Formats: sequence, structure tokens, C-alpha cells
Amino acid sequence: MNSHELNQELLRRREQVRQGEGMDAAARQHAKGKLTARERIDRLLDRGSFQEVDPYIVHRHSAFGIDERRVPGDSVVVGLGRIMGRKVAIAAQDFTIIGGSFSEAHAQKVCKVLDLAISSGIPFIFLNDSVGARIQEGVWSLAGYAELFWRNSQASGVIPQISIMLGPCAGGSVYSPGLTDFVIMTEGISHMFITGPEVIKTVTGEEVDLETLGGAHTHASISGVAHLVAADEDEAFAITRRLLSYLPSNNAAPPARLPPDDDPTRADPVLDTLVPLEDTQSYDIREAIVRIFDLGSFFEVHARFAPNAVVGFARLHGEVVGVIANQPAWLAGVLDIDASDKIARFVRFCDAFHIPLITFVDCPGFMPGTVQEHGGIIRHGAKIVYAYSEATVPKVCVITRKAYGGAYIVMSSKQIRTDLVYAWPTAEIAVMGAEGAVNILYRKQLAEAEHPEEVRAQFIAEYRERFGSPYSAAASGHVDDVILPSETRARLIAALDFLRDKQAPSLPKKHGCMPL
Ligand code: HXC
Repeated sequence: MNSHELNQELLRRREQVRQGEGMDAAARQHAKGKLTARERIDRLLDRGSFQEVDPYIVHRHSAFGIDERRVPGDSVVVGLGRIMGRKVAIAAQDFTIIGGSFSEAHAQKVCKVLDLAISSGIPFIFLNDSVGARIQEGVWSLAGYAELFWRNSQASGVIPQISIMLGPCAGGSVYSPGLTDFVIMTEGISHMFITGPEVIKTVTGEEVDLETLGGAHTHASISGVAHLVAADEDEAFAITRRLLSYLPSNNAAPPARLPPDDDPTRADPVLDTLVPLEDTQSYDIREAIVRIFDLGSFFEVHARFAPNAVVGFARLHGEVVGVIANQPAWLAGVLDIDASDKIARFVRFCDAFHIPLITFVDCPGFMPGTVQEHGGIIRHGAKIVYAYSEATVPKVCVITRKAYGGAYIVMSSKQIRTDLVYAWPTAEIAVMGAEGAVNILYRKQLAEAEHPEEVRAQFIAEYRERFGSPYSAAASGHVDDVILPSETRARLIAALDFLRDKQAPSLPKKHGCMPL
């Protein structure tokens, strides 16, 4: 062959790879309401930025007729590209080729780009749409999964890893998304489960449909597996772009800073009356958050899971921060098992990637009851204190109202090495609420009193006088200052500026044993 023919041969092969299983297979994918792997890559990445890797790989197995289905590139498309100019490594499972089944070659390709992502310090994005382990390859498929899971674990805390769920993800394959930092599910087309409805029915007799078992709503609001939910594929890609804008490319680079576009001294007067004086009344802490941080910058994650806590990213004078808050508008902001997991995980992610933590506290304590105790609230709640204690990024806390008991301690208290703790004038810092405390402290007096209700009211008033304001905690230095709510933005910006070069020594150890 001459040079021209050689080049033509390459172009012919390239077109063959692009066609994959052909128009019919693409049409079948479209009929399921799904895009093809290449269409997805085209929509997610900046135009023309995709550099494909391993398009000619074919599998080498033959059992059960699989040798008849040897397609260049096998069942996944991988490579490097850019999203809003940011470099990423990407893998998109191709359901049109043997159901996107996970083969030895599939694993080899995904692992290759994940290795490139780790060594180049760029985020890894995995578009999932697969029936799971390729049955015909037996242990080779399982070993491929193990290779991927090992890499996901190695990459954790080194580069951000994002899983976008765009189809089925069944069996052990759920553990790759489960090991990544963020899972984005797409309503209606994505399902995640360890065992499907058929197996469940056979083993336990329970009948459940696919959506109830492992759809987006289930994982976003009940299991907590999904951090973000999209109505369709385009929204999933839009969410990915927004999420990525808050993340650094790796743990050695700072998060992307934007030129500030909001007045750093902006003092929002609404904040000064946002917290109701009657402590049984609620308010939405997100209203405070959106008014304090750069306008339009708050990006909540894990919103549907444990709504009694709020976590998300925001910007302060252009700098990325992680925001954690109790949510008084949901179960009075109480801490339970799910809220503990949600907070601890977010704190650890931010710490791993040098994102400072800003915490807002209004919490009556941990949720009482056998459901929580038997579910292990002790070990789950311990994760919060562990995560904050371990975190070495700048940490600033604002107590807006109740900081009672364990909640005071675990929610970024001064003593677990929060750099600066501020309190609003509405803050109440105490071992517990007034009613409960009086019942314990004065049980005898109340039992013997002629008019117990009057005596109780008097004791409660005394207790509130003592602990119903932030000044006794400020008098002992347990909070660093009492600030006007409308001053919060300016104070947080100043605090982060001073804490920018914070050094936090830690004891030499291999790793700690985080409560689980
Ligand atoms: C090889 C498979 C396959 C598999 C399906 N196919 N599962 N090929 N290995 N595991 C093939 C089908 O024969 C079909 O081939 C193509 O993939 C698409 O599958 P369909 O069933 O036609 O698609 P659909 O109707 O959309 O249903 C999708 C599905 C269903 C709901 C996901 O396929 C399903 O329930 N599959 C089983 C899912 C599962 O239990 N996976 C776990 C496997 S165990 P053609 O020739 O028609 O294109 C596992 C362990 C991993 O993953 C452990 C890791 C540690």
C-alpha cells in the first residue's frame, strides 16, 4: 500500500469505530430515551476537544459465541477532553455494544484513562450505562472490576471523580460510582442496585419495581447514594459542568478562583431579623446562605437526602468554600444518622481538596429514640466530630441559634480546632434546652412546689437569662466574637483571608480509623 492508501485505511477504520454497532443499535438506544456514548461525550465536552484513546481494542474471549461479537473499541469509549476549558479524563460505557457489558478490554480502557487522570492530576468522569459484568468472560470481567475499584480507591482524595448515571448499573458494578466523590443520577433512565427485582423476588419473596428499588428518587432521598439528580441527560451534563467549576483539578492545586463580582462588604439587613426570637419557630438556613455568599454562587449537593442538614459549595469574594449547616426548617435541624453521614462525607471531601469550611449551627442535638440508637447514631454521629477534627483546611463557624449539647461540640466547635467561631446575638449555647434542663435540675423542687408551673416558669427564665444568649460563651472565649448577622459576609471574607496560609500539624500515623 502507498501512503495515500495507508491513510485511507486509517480513515476507514476510524469511521468504522465511530459507527460502532451501526444506526440500528443507535436507534434502539434512542428508543429507550438514551443518547449513545459518543453523543454523550460530544454534548458534555467542549466542542472538538475529545482525544480518544484505545479505539481499536478488541476483546480476546470466545466462550458462548462472544468471539462473534468483536467490535473495535469494545463496549466503552474513553479519552481526554475539556469541559469549560478544564482538562478531564472521561469514559462512556456504550450500551449498544453487548449492553455496555464490563469486559476485560473495557476495564483495561477505563483503567488506562483513570491512570492518566491520576498521573496528570485531572478529574475523572465516568458515564455509566451497562448491564454489568460480561458473563461470557467469567473471572476476567470480575478482575477488571477489581482493577477499577482499586484505582477509584487510589484516586480518592487525589483527583475529583464524578459518576454520571445514564442507564442501568447493577451488581457489583455499583461500587465504582460508590467509590467516587459525586454520583449524578438521571431520572427515569438510571437505576442502581446490587440485586435486581427478579433476584429479590426469588430470594426474599419481596416484589419491587426497578424505579422504587434503585431509581434516582430512591437514591437521592432515601439511600443517599446519589448526590445530584437531573431530569434528563442534558441537565446531567449541565450539573456536571457547574459542579466541576467548584472543584480543583487535583489535591495539589487550589480550587478555581473567579474574579470577585459581588461587594465584599455587602451587609444584607434581612439577615438581622431572619432568626425568629421564639425558638420553636423555624426558618430556612438557605435564605441566610444565599444572602451571605457571593450572589448566585450557592450550589447545594445531596439536597434531597437528610434535609435536616444542608451542604454545598459557594464562593466568598470569588474563592470556593464548602458550606455546612443545620436546617431548622426540617426536624428543627436535629442531627440523625443520615445527616451525620452527609456532613462527615462532605467535610472530608472539602478537606481533601483544600476547600475551606464554613459551618452554620442551629441544632437542638442528636435525634432521640430507639430507631436512631439501634441504627448506630453513636458511630454515625462520631463521624462528624472525626471529620471536623481531622480537617486541616481553614474552618470558620457561625452559631445562628441553638448550639445544644453534642451539637455544639461536633458542629465545628472551637475545641475541635475550628479557627474562628462567631455567634449571632440570637445564639443559645447550652448543654440542653431550658425546659429539659429545668426538669432535671429542679425535679425535687418542682414536685414539692405548691404552684409548680409558676416555679418552673421562674427557673426557665433564670436558665434562659444565663444560657439564652451568646455572651456567657463569649465571656469564657468559647466563641471568638458576637457579630451582627448582616456583618457575617464581611467577617467571613476577612477570616478566610487571614487563614489562607494556615499550617496545621498532625501526628505521624499511617491513617486513622474513622468510625463507620
Ligand atoms: C453479557 C449481557 C449481560 C451480561 C445483558 N447482556 N446482560 N451480556 N453479560 N451480564 C446483553 C443482552 O443479551 C443484550 O444483548 C444486551 O446486553 C442488552 O441487554 P437487554 O437485556 O436486552 O437490555 P434491556 O432490556 O435494556 O435490559 C437491561 C437490564 C437487563 C435491565 C440491565 O439486561 C438486566 O437485568 N441485566 C442483568 C443485570 C445484572 O443483574 N447485572 C449484574 C451482573 S453481575 P444483545 O445481543 O441483545 O445486544 C455483576 C457482578 C459484578 O455485574 C461484580 C463486580 C465486582
